[in-house]
This record gives sequence, structure tokens and C-alpha cells, in this order.
Amino acid sequence: MGIMTNKTELAERGRRRIEWIRSRMPLLAHARQQFAESTPFSGHRIGMSLHLEPKTAVLLETLAAGGAEIVATGNHGSTQDDVVAYLRGEGMTVFGSRDDSLDAHHANVSAVLDAGPDILLDNGADLAAGVVARGSAASVIGGTEETTSGGLRLRGELGGRVTFPMIVINDSLLKAIGENRHAVGQSVVESFMRITNLMVPGRRFVVAGYGWCGRGVAQYLRALGGKVAVVEVDELKAFEAALDGYRVDRLEGLADWGEVFITATGQPDVITAQHFGLLRDGAVLANCGHFPWEIDVAGLRAAASNVHALDDAIDRIEFADGRHVILLADGRMMNLAGREPKGNSLESMDLGFLLQSLSLERVATGASELPHGAQPVPDDINRLIATRMLAAMGANR
Ligand code: NAI
Repeated sequence: MGIMTNKTELAERGRRRIEWIRSRMPLLAHARQQFAESTPFSGHRIGMSLHLEPKTAVLLETLAAGGAEIVATGNHGSTQDDVVAYLRGEGMTVFGSRDDSLDAHHANVSAVLDAGPDILLDNGADLAAGVVARGSAASVIGGTEETTSGGLRLRGELGGRVTFPMIVINDSLLKAIGENRHAVGQSVVESFMRITNLMVPGRRFVVAGYGWCGRGVAQYLRALGGKVAVVEVDELKAFEAALDGYRVDRLEGLADWGEVFITATGQPDVITAQHFGLLRDGAVLANCGHFPWEIDVAGLRAAASNVHALDDAIDRIEFADGRHVILLADGRMMNLAGREPKGNSLESMDLGFLLQSLSLERVATGASELPHGAQPVPDDINRLIATRMLAAMGANR
């Protein structure tokens, strides 16, 4: 009885949180209505491996409204149990919980594949790799891949063996503008303030990488009065940063100037042992790139004389020479860290998940017309969503 009540309470908490999120995702609401009429996923089973949180729940509801049977699991460590409880109550098959070990997580991904989905909603190409390893590619008509790293895997180690179309959402220009630049820009600045409670105006920030995410981070820091310098290895992007009015230099030249360093390159070893000795006392180090490898955290800890965990996502790392640096979120994506991380804005995820929904619809209704393997989002889908976003914002062209 007690367990039952807990389950019901958990599902009810999930329902309330999802209600707020759903109410601010108008693009998906529109898609739900259309899908309910056209039922593009009728007779299809969609297997999903993606962060299980309220925004994904709204995506899953949208696909279910179009007739899909859903079999889903989350990413390791980020599953929200109240969301899972709610989705199960809605009749979806969902594996996983927040405290799952890595082995349990792998078992969940296997369980999704055991259910025999014919459409994949993948993240990091785990499901596609599983299908290839099992030799069951013939039963899959196609799918979508959320991340750049999954796209690289599909084109690299799995290249030639993915005998169905996989639309890579992250390759969309619309997503780059709406999410990587503007949503990551906003949420990284919000996360810096939320985690540290420090002031942005007048503070000196160094942003490493002036790609889509780095441009947004630099833009929103400056908008709040931060002084921003950029480190960029690509000469064209470095040139752009200089014309955009930022100080542009190598990390070595900025190590003593910067008070906060934020990496946004997607590459390993951007801030390494060679820089630690140059950083000013109290410098804050943070990362927003996908992998926790841009700051050499192991090297930093090895170089330290003392490490103190000060708060959920704040470590004080002391050196023998008396200086210290502050490491946020252990070098992991800072906008998903700390207390009550919000991640990227609702509107940007509404956009990203409409890209997912319409790409999956394209797979369900026209997979035979798409080439095999990794491919970008069809351009007509990008343009349709841009038009709907403009209309939702009251903008004209
Ligand atoms: P991008 O490819 O547009 O930009 C990366 C930039 O970093 C490029 O201009 C490149 O020349 C530069 N770069 C590479 N190595 C460098 C180095 N050692 N020093 C300085 N600059 C260097 O990629 P994008 O879209 O900006 O993504 C960056 C990372 O952020 C990726 O790992 C991506 O997966 C991640 N990401 C994180 C999100 C979040 O919510 N935190 C959301 C979306 C993407």
C-alpha cells in the first residue's frame, strides 16, 4: 500500500511538472494535433534512448498521439523518476531509474532493443550500434540521432553497416542557431550565476571556442556587462570574434587576465597542466562542451596540494604555491549541473523536439526515399519550423 501511494505520488509530481513544460511548447502542441489526425506512426514501435525529463516526456506524448507505441530508456544518471512514473501510467514501456548503475543502464538499452522497435530515436548512436551488433538491421526502417557525437559514430565505426536512414538532428542549421547559440548561451550564463552566485557585470571571462555554443556564451556574458575574451584555433572564427569586438588571444596570453574560463570546443585538453601554473589565484574553470574532457580535470587534481568540495558543483583546488582555482561541475556540462539545473530553454527544446518529431514522421512515412546512414534534417523541415517559430514570435518576413 505504502509503495503504491509513493508510486502514485511520484507520477502525480511528474504530471504537474510536465503540465507546465507542455504549456510552453506550442510547436509540439501543434504537431500533436496534426499527428492525432494523420497518425503517421500507427503500427510503428519507436525505441528511444534520450534524457528522460519533462521536455522529453512531451516529445514522447507527441509521438504517441501519432499512433506510436513507445519503448524508452534514459541516459545514464539523468533519469527523473517522477517523469518515468508518469509515462508508465500513460501506458508507455519505460526502463530505468535515476540510481541505475552503468550495467543496469546498458541492460535498459538492451531491453529497448529486445522489444524490437522498427524506428529508433537515438542519442550517441547506442541503439543503432546495438541493432548492428545484433544483426537485426533488417527490422529497422530508420530513425533519428540527437547528437553530433552519435553522427560521427554513424559515419565512422558504424559507417556502411547502417542499412537504414538516420537523420542527425544536430546537423540542422536551425538547431545550431536556436539551441547551440542562443539557448546554450542563455543557460550557461544562467548556470554560472545559479551555481556560483557571482556577479557577471565587470567580470573578465575567457570563452574557449567561438563555434555555435561559444558565440552564444560570449554574446550573453557581454550582454550582462561581462568583459569577454575569446580563444579560437580556427582563423576564420577567430577573425569573426575579433570583428565582433572581443579580445582574441591564446590561452597563455589570457591565463592571468581571465577570472572565469568557459570551454565550448567539443575537443579534449583545451585547458591542461601547461596552463595551471599561469592561472590567477581564484580563477573559475567551467565547461559547456558535451564531453567532460575539455579541462584536464585528472591533471588538475594531480597537480593540486588539496581539493575541497565546497558545494554541489563547486570544488576548490589548491596548489602548493598558495594559489587556488575553482572548478565547476567537475568539468562536466555546467548547464546540466548544480542544484535544480534547468538545461536549455523550453522554447529551444520545443524547436529541437519538433525537428525530432517531423524527422521521425519523415522516416515513418517515407523511409524508402531516404538514403541509408547518417544524413542531415531535410531542408524543407528546417524551413517549415523556422516559419512556425517566426509566427509564434509574432515576427514577419
Ligand atoms: P562548433 O564546432 O560550432 O564549435 C567549436 C569551436 O571550437 C570551433 O570553432 C573550433 O574551431 C573551436 N576549437 C576546437 N578546438 C579548440 C581549442 N583547443 N581551443 C579553442 N578553440 C577550439 O561546435 P558547437 O556546436 O559550438 O558545440 C561545442 C560543444 O558543445 C560540443 O561538444 C557540443 O556537443 C556541445 N553542446 C553542448 C550543449 C549544452 O547544452 N551544454 C548543447 C549543444 C552542444
